[in-house]
Amino acid sequence: MPTPTRTLRRATITGLGMYVPERILTNRELETLVETSDQWIVDRTGIRERRIASEDQATSDLAIPAAQEALRVANLSATDLDLIIVATCTGDMGSFPATAAIVQDRLEAKQAAAFDVVAVCSGFVYALDVAAQYIETGRYSNVLVIGAEIMSRLLDWTDRNTCVLFGDGAGAVVVQAAEEAADEGILGSILGTDGSGVWLLNVPSGGTRSPLTPDRIADRQQYMTMRGKEVYRFAVEIMGEAAVQALGAVGLQPSDVDLFIPHQANTRIITAAAKRLDLPMEKVFVNVDRYGNTSAASVPLAMVEAWKMGKIQPGNLLVTVGFGAGLTWGANVIRWGNVTP
Ligand code: UT7
Repeated sequence: MPTPTRTLRRATITGLGMYVPERILTNRELETLVETSDQWIVDRTGIRERRIASEDQATSDLAIPAAQEALRVANLSATDLDLIIVATCTGDMGSFPATAAIVQDRLEAKQAAAFDVVAVCSGFVYALDVAAQYIETGRYSNVLVIGAEIMSRLLDWTDRNTCVLFGDGAGAVVVQAAEEAADEGILGSILGTDGSGVWLLNVPSGGTRSPLTPDRIADRQQYMTMRGKEVYRFAVEIMGEAAVQALGAVGLQPSDVDLFIPHQANTRIITAAAKRLDLPMEKVFVNVDRYGNTSAASVPLAMVEAWKMGKIQPGNLLVTVGFGAGLTWGANVIRWGNVTP
């Protein structure tokens, strides 16, 4: 594994925000759509309900309110932003432009460059590391990182293997250079990819490999397909492993962690990872029960909620872990500063 980059100056989170659509879809409602039950979904995944964007909402419509809240908390105006990164696999427009460009325009962040990161459920963890790199090198000082998804548009509502698992939402953070003397910020990150797992979780058609045709649409190939059991096995393994690696890279270990913020895909995966890390569940944040798997929005939604609930205090050590299609994974180790609502 490459040695982590020597930190020139540290990047720290100074603002956070979130947005979820109003519409709540319960397991009971899903019982009327596919052959499933509230009990099966709760027992196998821990999910009780998820949010679903309205037909007139696009991903940037979820990203914007989350971003505005994060900017307000950071006490930063959009014109001060140097860079906007949107982690998403469900952009406003099919292939281009980047959703980040749409966000940049609507925020009127006139000085900011903007691009998307596509690492699916690991997207926010990847994007946070990218933001930290730009800040550590001194290239940029004020970066907005957003994880935003409308997963419901990728779901085949006749496929019970996938349609019960996902939801929509957005979380955002402002990342800025930490004051030199402050012992806070993103201490380090690890990222990983195993592209041989591309077939385990993907949207088969709609790209250059298999453009959409009437036959492919009739075959529902524009929707997500997943080999759940294999992804589950990978997830249980990588969740703990990625956290240990990221902590080890900055000379820390799981017993140093105050709060573990895992990708919210399934409570069984989260519990297995916590066990592996020997962390009591009080040190693990879980909100998959209310939002389902929101892909790149899951880690920031969990971080924002944990912070709003007072579960993250100045000086706390946090570890985030993401995993998902690609296959991709990543983890950030963060010493929390003093962020006030
Ligand atoms: O961000 C990364 C995205 N993906 C994930 O994190 C998914 C990881 N995988 C998982 O979370 C789990 O594998 C699932 C929740 C998807 C499935 O749980 P499982 O314990 O691995 O169940 P299974 O796939 O072994 O399925 C058991 C049974 C099957 O029936 P048979 O073949 O044994 O008769 C499925 O057809 O459950 C059936 N099943 C369902 N039954 C009721 C699958 N989906 C449903 C459903 N309701 N929604």
